[in-house]
Amino acid sequence: MFAQRHLLGIEGLTRPEVEEILDLADRYVDLNRRPDKHADALQGLTQINLFFENSTRTQSSFEIAGKRLGADVMNMAVAQSSVKKGETLIDTALTLNAMHPDLLVVRHPSSGACNLLAQKVNCSVLNAGDGRHEHPTQALLDALTIRRSKGRLHRLNVAICGDIAHSRVARSNILLLGLMENRIRLIGPPTLMPSQVDQLGVEVYEDMREGLEDVDVVMMLRLQKERMDGAFIPSEREYYHRFGLDPEKLAYAKPDAIVMHPGPMNRGVEIDGILADDINRSVIQEQVEMGVAVRMAAMHLLARNLKAGSGQGHEIPAHGMSPG
Ligand code: CP
Repeated sequence: MFAQRHLLGIEGLTRPEVEEILDLADRYVDLNRRPDKHADALQGLTQINLFFENSTRTQSSFEIAGKRLGADVMNMAVAQSSVKKGETLIDTALTLNAMHPDLLVVRHPSSGACNLLAQKVNCSVLNAGDGRHEHPTQALLDALTIRRSKGRLHRLNVAICGDIAHSRVARSNILLLGLMENRIRLIGPPTLMPSQVDQLGVEVYEDMREGLEDVDVVMMLRLQKERMDGAFIPSEREYYHRFGLDPEKLAYAKPDAIVMHPGPMNRGVEIDGILADDINRSVIQEQVEMGVAVRMAAMHLLARNLKAGSGQGHEIPAHGMSPG
């Protein structure tokens, strides 16, 4: 049973907790495909989205998820806020906390920012990406995409390729896929591998063709230029030649291997644009769809625990979806 008060990372979750989120998300996928997409699991609750970094997918899907579940959703416009006058992260969070939100969704450039906030506020905090640390809902939506596509989420060969060093998506995926007993290969240049990679329980490859041999899942990552403080690759052209996914390199994977990318993509840098759009191989659009369902499930379960903690547990049924 999912017993968390916050969703700060994959680290600390148990396998049954991950499975509970994915099982509920599966049901929300069905709901989201119906003409009436509304349910009541967050009825009466207030959700604040606080994004200190740009986002398209994560912010919009958290907003849609909250609204579909009946929450009052407020998107904090950080660029127009008193953050620009020098107000700190903690003071901003304490100010919002005084307005009694129930769910605070936070993206921040500093690793550990969400964990810090969770100690200061009364509501549930959801990490929407903190520095290079974690992006738990991305790993959960990736897991749901893989499970629905492959029919299982264990004993798969998964290649995570590209800029691993700067990627919170890679870190959360390594933790989740490891928890589910998959074989994980990291492929990329040594300059883009994290330090202490040998302690992650993964196999490391510098050659795409060697690393992609017989994998079930190919997960490409964006070059995170905004987190680079020097030259990590000779040139984007050279990088694409060696590490960009194209049909020739993908041919080394299993014939039914799926291609994933968390977005936003740099077409022609880490992935061939035509391959990214190939609906026979790419599940990139499915990942976006699963993002809404996973965020609905995560907020639903956190709200259930919040209500239970305040003695109102009976008000939200364990799977409080609309009838039908
Ligand atoms: N995958 C992801 O986090 O995308 P956004 O930056 O657009 O939210």
